This record gives sequence, structure tokens and C-alpha cells, in this order.
Amino acid sequence: MSQIVDGFNRQVDYLRLSVTDRCDFRCVYCMSEDPEFLPRQQVLSLEELSWVAQAFTELGVKKIRLTGGEPLVRTDCDQLVKLLGNLPGLEDLSMTTNGSRLTKLAQPLFDNGLSRLNISLDTLNPELFTQLTRNGKLDRVIAGIDAAIAAGFRKIKINAVILRGQNDHEVIDLVNFCRARNLDIAFIEEMPLGVIDERKQSRHCSSDEVKALIEAQYPLIPSSKRTGGPARYYQMADSSTHVGFISPHSNNFCHECNRVRVTVEGRLLLCLGNENSIDLKAIVRAHPGDIERLKHAILDGIQFKPQSHHFDQEGVQVLRFMNATGG
Ligand code: GTP
Ligand code: 5AD
Ligand code: SF4
Repeated sequence: MSQIVDGFNRQVDYLRLSVTDRCDFRCVYCMSEDPEFLPRQQVLSLEELSWVAQAFTELGVKKIRLTGGEPLVRTDCDQLVKLLGNLPGLEDLSMTTNGSRLTKLAQPLFDNGLSRLNISLDTLNPELFTQLTRNGKLDRVIAGIDAAIAAGFRKIKINAVILRGQNDHEVIDLVNFCRARNLDIAFIEEMPLGVIDERKQSRHCSSDEVKALIEAQYPLIPSSKRTGGPARYYQMADSSTHVGFISPHSNNFCHECNRVRVTVEGRLLLCLGNENSIDLKAIVRAHPGDIERLKHAILDGIQFKPQSHHFDQEGVQVLRFMNATGG
């Protein structure tokens, strides 16, 4: 049982740990075209990240997901996987990646003990891919996905953010891509993080619309599959692919929230849609290796976790971009 319990009696046993705010892509829903990244001295070192992770696991956290930015642009990321893989009590060490570096890194990550991979893929059209990522190459990502399968990863999940008028016509193609490779897929509603001009045009596409598109072709059977994240899953009658929906707007999941984030500058961020945070970097830098002090700060800080995000409230704007937040 996790000792981290918030003011609404929710137990936190899942940490999303950001290892960098940098990325080799510039996805249109994630960051601006010309982002500013943090200076390196503000970023937690490998050792500092591992102390933070240790404090969480000693308090009962069982799942850690490495996020970014793009975690794999940080060159020592596979070493971090090795370090964290040895933490007592940690049952699930996973990563969310854009897939661009997996052809090289999938095997070392698997060998170092990473258990699960979520890979973003919003379109199978090479031109649209380059447009949505502002510079990414689709064939590299597909090669990366195939390298991850070959390395031994099972139950890889593809993440697709669906935007009306952009990639909503590709829902079935993405499902078929996953069926052919025995992958799971989660369709995500865009969240309003950071000021992004294009969001002024309505491109919101609800999970219900996406689900209806799939059901016109394939029956979806509600599934009990849960991975500890917010996705609600369905099974397909004739394939092992699970189809999930992450619906921050149309189906709020905050009442069962079990997670917190630590940003790459060591801010313990209590909710994706809220600025409440605790500065763990100050503690780590003033008292290197003092895990007990970190544990106290986490237990004190958790009381500031809000009941819910307020993405849908008029006038609410979270200024942090997703890459600075940590997926
Ligand atoms: P697993 O369940 O561990 O497989 O992962 P996940 O689906 O939670 O993680 P992933 O990194 O694949 O995230 C998919 C999408 O869910 C991203 O857009 C995340 O930002 C979003 N997400 C994850 N956790 C939360 C959360 O607590 N609140 C909100 N609003 N979105 C979240
Ligand atoms: N809304 C929803 N999902 C987002 N992601 C990045 N930015 C947003 C956003 N604004 C997704 C990426 C990746 C995961 C870490 O978060 O597509 O799959
Ligand atoms: Fe990079 Fe992921 Fe953000 Fe795209 S969504 S810019 S791949 S961090």
C-alpha cells in the first residue's frame, strides 16, 4: 500500500518522471514552433532523478513512467533505466516515447529492464506526419516500433491524439496498423496545455466520435484491462488489440487519479491541469542523497493535490506546455 494519500483519500502509487523537456519533434499540440528549453544546470542529474524515484518507491509507489519531452534525446536515459530497475518495490518501469530513436535504443532499454513502452503515432501519412510533428519522419518511427517489437517488448501501446480536420479520417487505418502488429492503441483528446494559436480553431474530437468511427467497422467489447493510467479499454472480437480512450474532456477520470508528476526541474506537480507544485530540486541540491527529507516533502506536498483538472472551465489556461510538464 502506498503511504502517499491525498486529501480526497486517493492513493498515489504511480509516478510520471520527466527526464528532459527537449524533443527532436515539435508536435503541434505539445509545444510552440520555437520553444525555449531549460538550461542544463536546472535539469536534475541522473543521480538526482534516482534519489527522487527512490523516495517515491520507499513510500509505496509501484509504477514509474519515464516521460519528456522525448526521454530518449537524453543520452544517459538507458543508464537511468538500469538504475531505477533495481529499486526495491518497483513493479513496473515504463516509458512514453515518440519512437524516433528506438531503432538504436529499443534493445538496450529492453535489456536494462524497461517493462513497457507507449509510442506516439498520430498518422500513417508521411506528409501529415511531418506537418503534425513539424519535422518528424514517419518511416523512422515505424522502424522504431518494429525494432521495439523485435527487441521483445510486449503490449506496446500506440498513442494517437485525434484532431478534427487533420487526422480524424485515419482512425481505422491506425487501428488496422495496430491489429497487424498486435499492439494496443489509445486515442487521446487534446488537452489545452500551453498557448497554442491553432487551438483557437475548433479541432476537438471527442472519444465518442472516434469510438463511433471504429464501431462502424469493428465491434468493441468493454474490457477490464487497466494499466494504472486514465485509458478506458475495449477489446476487439477478432484480435488481441485493445482500443483505449483517454478522454479528459468527455469522461473525467480525476476521481480515480493515482498519479503525480515530477518535472525535469524537480517540481512535484500534483495535477496535469493545475500549477500546484513542490520544489524537490531545492531539497535534492541542498541535501544530496537525503531520501528521508524528500519523503517528508512528498507527504506534506500531496495535500495540495486538487480534486480535478479544470480544462473545461471558461477562462482557465494552463501556461505550461506539455513538454515542460512531462507528458
Ligand atoms: P499507462 O496506463 O501506464 O500505459 O500509461 P498512460 O496511458 O497513462 O500514459 P501515456 O504516457 O501513454 O499517456 C497518454 C496520455 O494520457 C497523455 O496525453 C497523457 O498526458 C495523458 N495522461 C496520463 N495521465 C494523465 C492524468 O493524470 N491526467 C490527464 N488529464 N491526462 C493524463
Ligand atoms: N493533449 C493530449 N495529449 C498530448 N500529448 C502531448 N501533448 C498533448 C496534449 N496537448 C501526448 C503525446 C504523447 C503523450 C505523452 O502525450 O501524444 O503520446
Ligand atoms: Fe515531442 Fe512528444 Fe511533444 Fe511531440 S508530443 S513534441 S514527440 S514531446
